[in-house]
Amino acid sequence: MAEVKQAAQALDAALALLAAGEVVAIPTETVYGLAGDATSGQAVARIFEAKGRPRFNPLIAHVASMAMAEKIAVFDPLSARLAENFWPGPLTLVLPLREAFGIHPLVTAGLDTIALRMPRGFASGLIDRLGRPLAAPSANRSGRISATTAAAVAEDLGDRIRLVVDGGPTPVGVESTILKVEKGKLRLLRPGGVTADEIEKAVGMGVERYGDAAIEAPGMMASHYAPGASVRLDVAEVHPGEALLAFGPRRAAGSNDAAAVKNLSERGDLREAAANLFSYLKELDRSGAATIAVEPIPFDGLGEAINDRLRRAAAPRRHDMNRD
Ligand code: TXA
Ligand code: MG
Repeated sequence: MAEVKQAAQALDAALALLAAGEVVAIPTETVYGLAGDATSGQAVARIFEAKGRPRFNPLIAHVASMAMAEKIAVFDPLSARLAENFWPGPLTLVLPLREAFGIHPLVTAGLDTIALRMPRGFASGLIDRLGRPLAAPSANRSGRISATTAAAVAEDLGDRIRLVVDGGPTPVGVESTILKVEKGKLRLLRPGGVTADEIEKAVGMGVERYGDAAIEAPGMMASHYAPGASVRLDVAEVHPGEALLAFGPRRAAGSNDAAAVKNLSERGDLREAAANLFSYLKELDRSGAATIAVEPIPFDGLGEAINDRLRRAAAPRRHDMNRD
């Protein structure tokens, strides 16, 4: 079983494992990541193995500085402005890859672009000390709900990895926003911790929604973030025996007969709701109810990312190859 170590005491142990081409679960501000040296084929292969993730689904490379980022990818002025505004933070930029740096081709699944992000906190210090970028998908088994606590990582991957670094619950709670910068246009491949609104305000231009482009972030398709229970969205009425994922001060009809209730945010705050989303879904799943009913959640701001994850959790389960 993996050792779970407090972040304040874990830096040296994590560094030693990473330098040896092993993988380590680490906290970021969004969700926990399963990290390995992005220049090591062995480390990256271990990430895919531990997650049970299809190898053509590329990973995000995490950096600690602009100097490191610029060695890996080509930044046009628009990309540079985005990085300046949102890094470190929950924004991933998909940019043209420079081959010279030595990112292992398994990271990009052979694409000529790379997904780059600069995380906050423990992850940043770790990358800085290692001196190399870390490839890190969310630290969950492929197709399951992302982990926002060290305990959730240990439960899901504990028998497959050696170390989980415990940095407490992740503050943002949903994964980073993925934005593709292409020919002066911004395409939202995955809504996440930075809202489209914040991006539009910062650079003074519109963000195109994923729509047909969804296929370009290969992990973004079909059933994903799947709990064991089935998920019913936008409910006005809870059926007896269902678990209820609530939002805001007013309850759906029938909530008194729910098997279990968790409220994402009593006061209707979307930031708080995002932070609670994955752990509450897991908790309701553990209640044993066959169905989790979800109250409507507004689509503005972080609501876009929350609704995106819930839609995937509710999608028909398919054993397709696009889970991550
Ligand atoms: O918040 C996050 O982004 C977390 C933390 C650990 O950093 N990471 C994360 O990674 O969510 P992952 O692997 O679960 O999701 C990465 C997504 C996948 O949907 C993948 O298909 C997409 O990024 N992706 C990676 N490289 C890409 C590329 N070159 N072009 C388009 N999409 C890419
Ligand atoms: Mg994931």
